[in-house]
Amino acid sequence: MKEGLFHRQNQSQRMAFAGVFAILLPICFPHLFRPLGRASPSLFSEWIAPRPRHLPLLKAALTRHIPVRQQSGLWAPLPDQGWKACNEPTIVSSLPAKSQGYIQVFLDGGLNQQRMGLCDAVAVAKILNATLVVPHLDLNPVWLDSSSFSDIFDVDHFINVLSNEVKIVKEPPNEYSWSTREYYATGIWPTRIKTAPVHASAQWYQDNVLPVLQSYGIVAIAPFSHRLAFDQLPIDLQRLRCKVNFEALAFVRDVKVLGELIVNRLRKTKHQVLGSELRVNNDGSGNDGSGKYVVLHLRFDKDMAAHSACDFGGGKAEKLALAKYRQESRALSLTPEEIGLLLSALGFTNSTRLYLASHKVYGGEARIATLKQFFPLMEDKKTLASAEELAKVEGRASLLAAVDYYVSLKSDIFISASPGNMHNALVGHRAYLNLKTIRPNMVLLGPLFLNKSMVWPDFEAAVLNGHRNRQGQIRLRKEKQSIFTYPAPDCMCKS
Ligand SMILES: *[C@@H]1O[C@H](CO)[C@@H](O)[C@H](O)[C@H]1NC(C)=O
Ligand SMILES: *[C@@H]1O[C@H](CO)[C@@H](O)[C@H](O)[C@H]1NC(C)=O
Ligand SMILES: *[C@@H]1O[C@H](CO)[C@@H](O)[C@H](O)[C@H]1NC(C)=O
Repeated sequence: MKEGLFHRQNQSQRMAFAGVFAILLPICFPHLFRPLGRASPSLFSEWIAPRPRHLPLLKAALTRHIPVRQQSGLWAPLPDQGWKACNEPTIVSSLPAKSQGYIQVFLDGGLNQQRMGLCDAVAVAKILNATLVVPHLDLNPVWLDSSSFSDIFDVDHFINVLSNEVKIVKEPPNEYSWSTREYYATGIWPTRIKTAPVHASAQWYQDNVLPVLQSYGIVAIAPFSHRLAFDQLPIDLQRLRCKVNFEALAFVRDVKVLGELIVNRLRKTKHQVLGSELRVNNDGSGNDGSGKYVVLHLRFDKDMAAHSACDFGGGKAEKLALAKYRQESRALSLTPEEIGLLLSALGFTNSTRLYLASHKVYGGEARIATLKQFFPLMEDKKTLASAEELAKVEGRASLLAAVDYYVSLKSDIFISASPGNMHNALVGHRAYLNLKTIRPNMVLLGPLFLNKSMVWPDFEAAVLNGHRNRQGQIRLRKEKQSIFTYPAPDCMCKS
């Protein structure tokens, strides 16, 4: 089949096609390429560590002295901003007297995209007075992880926390046991809703899904990612979505135990490890950063290319959104060297405990070496936990992502150097908990890095000044923005 395709094309098309094919193949089928990947790191340019492009800044960053005052400001927790999670529901919501039937959703994408789908699924079940079947998580097309909901999340906790709002069952009852992912893959069936528009309204579900539910007693909605609007929904539904995201979705014990072990090891300072009390406060942490850690979330452009190239599901809108997203994320991403310079200017030093939350990436190791120059105490799952401790999550992308989510949520400071679902999920969750989150100011940084005569004191001053209001200050959600990224004011109340 491949030969036939190649035959009809001229030389240059053939070359281009072969190039794209060679790049996409290992992303779509990474397991095929592991041995090759190790053996020939020069196949893809991303495997080569880029040479420094900002040498004078780099030298200055690596030799400068940071005043203690700047350090303590950096590590101090966020002040109270007058917002907190809402305790009281707006209206006393209760279970409907009679369920309209069963709702199933099949969720694609990575863990953090599925997370939003889970919240929306509960909300849709509520809109329709239906019983939700614990959602099915599709095989991750990039990382080939087939973890189910109950492999990642505590399913009993999920059901119990929501038991006053929505009835949730682990499996559909026997009479509907035919209604599975495999069944819907074999043909067109009336109980499958394929046409839910992106950001559909509550009314859309009542008009289009309720009749099917009433006729058949069960309905499967797929695709379901981003299928419920953020605007013009009743406040109790918004709060319900947040309750799912911030309270009902708890990771399984294995993830929590491993996450907690990593957090504890990150918080142990060198001094404590050596048995000395030097410079360590009573609680083991100090505003000079001892006993504290920052998480840096990195993703590489290849990641997004992978998503659009291998995701054959979804509609045109989804493809367009992805293409646009990719363009933006490419324009907005920094090189590891630039991230190192940014973090240095913000006040992080070579004694900072920095945890790298990132998927294993093609070329990652070489690129990460640049960051290691700035932050010799940089850690990740592999450096902090033994192979035995990692055994339960090894090779399972969703569980690895869950561990990174856990460690990121517990960190003193979180910084994401690339926009995306993980970034959005953590920005929102940390806002909900009033935790410090530094959002790189790309508009500011672009011109600074382009200026070849930039000197360190000017760079540092501009970076500090340009990030004063980007440390986790509450930003109210604007129209069309996600309640999961901006939980105030919908899901948070004035304290
Ligand atoms: C950290 O940086 C300082 C200069 O700011 C240098 O004197 C010191 O040797 C560095 N320590 C390590 C472990 O690299
Ligand atoms: C759901 O139940 C409530 C009362 O429990 C009712 O007011 C509402 O109309 C019902 N909605 C649907 C779609 O059945
Ligand atoms: C570039 O940086 C230098 C030194 O920091 C500064 O004097 C100059 O104004 C900057 N140029 C531009 C175009 O911003």
